[in-house]
Amino acid sequence: MTDTLLETSSASNSETAIPARREVVTAIPGPKSQALHERRTKVVPPGVHSTLPVYIERASGAILRDVDGNSFIDLGAGIGVTTVGHSRETVVNAAKAQLDSFLHTLFTITPYESYVRVAELLAEHTPGDHEKHTVLVNSGAEAVENGVKIARKYTGRRGVAVLEHAYHGRTNLTMAMNYKAAPYATGFGPLAGDVFHAPSSYPYRDGLSGAAAAARTIGYLEKHVGATDLAALVVEPIQGEGGFQTPAEGYLPALQEWATKNGVVLIADEIQSGMGRTGRYFASEHFGLVPDLLLSAKGIAAGLPLPRSPAVPRSWTPPSPVDSAGPSAATPSPPRRRSPCSSSSSRTASSRRASASDGP
Ligand SMILES: Cc1ncc(COP(=O)(O)O)c(C=O)c1O
Repeated sequence: MTDTLLETSSASNSETAIPARREVVTAIPGPKSQALHERRTKVVPPGVHSTLPVYIERASGAILRDVDGNSFIDLGAGIGVTTVGHSRETVVNAAKAQLDSFLHTLFTITPYESYVRVAELLAEHTPGDHEKHTVLVNSGAEAVENGVKIARKYTGRRGVAVLEHAYHGRTNLTMAMNYKAAPYATGFGPLAGDVFHAPSSYPYRDGLSGAAAAARTIGYLEKHVGATDLAALVVEPIQGEGGFQTPAEGYLPALQEWATKNGVVLIADEIQSGMGRTGRYFASEHFGLVPDLLLSAKGIAAGLPLPRSPAVPRSWTPPSPVDSAGPSAATPSPPRRRSPCSSSSSRTASSRRASASDGP
């Protein structure tokens, strides 16, 4: 089988590669970018903010070339999306091959092999050696929403616990799950209910050991929510938007142990920390964490929409087939213990307030 997903060439497309150097040849933004910006202000709402309004014409590897001929090192990387670089030859070839074959059938009507292959690869590379199942959806936030839906259906409980400094997306439920109200949720209420923000492990500031921080998180949840009312505990194994926070050693395993003991589904949001971003496929691996559900997106498809969420809790009997999935979702089936989920790395360009457009 030709498996474009596994080719290992490190090359950018040699025909379209841009010299790997920073080169500034005009004022920033240059005249063509300024003209485009003028056009944009007439048709794109100000809530869709751009950090650096230079308009990109081409990109390769880690270099962006703008319409005025300036080259920049892309430190933005689509916020953790272009992990293997821009226009990597294997990615471009796989996309072209897919365009030549077909664009859409809807897997839940007429399935196709590549969905199965992605699920196989995720089963292979996500933490744990149990049987795993993957659901593909459309974005990171949608993966989070589906993770919560799966956990609620499975447990029959409503509560969702998240951690301080967390970021999970910009949909209604995920806005409620974020730590920061501004810029993500301010003015956009009412937000989804049954979401509880617990203290996390922030060793740089709190100086607590993993065990002490876990005791604080667990104590908070038991007191303010009650374990029996909790469907899920959602953690970013290494927090992204929260300031690239690595928890103290032992913190996540202690939460995992508590969650398992209390029938709470532990969901690892690896949308930003996964796909090699921390030196392993998934950040969970650094802590020996085997989550019940793992959410992946961003770097998984190098900028193309390919969301997924594998995972599924121990002795899980799935809800009815598509209950937990969107239009492109699959049917999760009963795994032995846990599996992952993920979601696409495409960014949603929904209309946002100017102040709401910073961050991921
Ligand atoms: C940890 C985490 N979860 C969820 C999301 C939401 O993903 P998306 O922007 O694809 O909806 C992000 C995006 O930055 C993220 O960093």
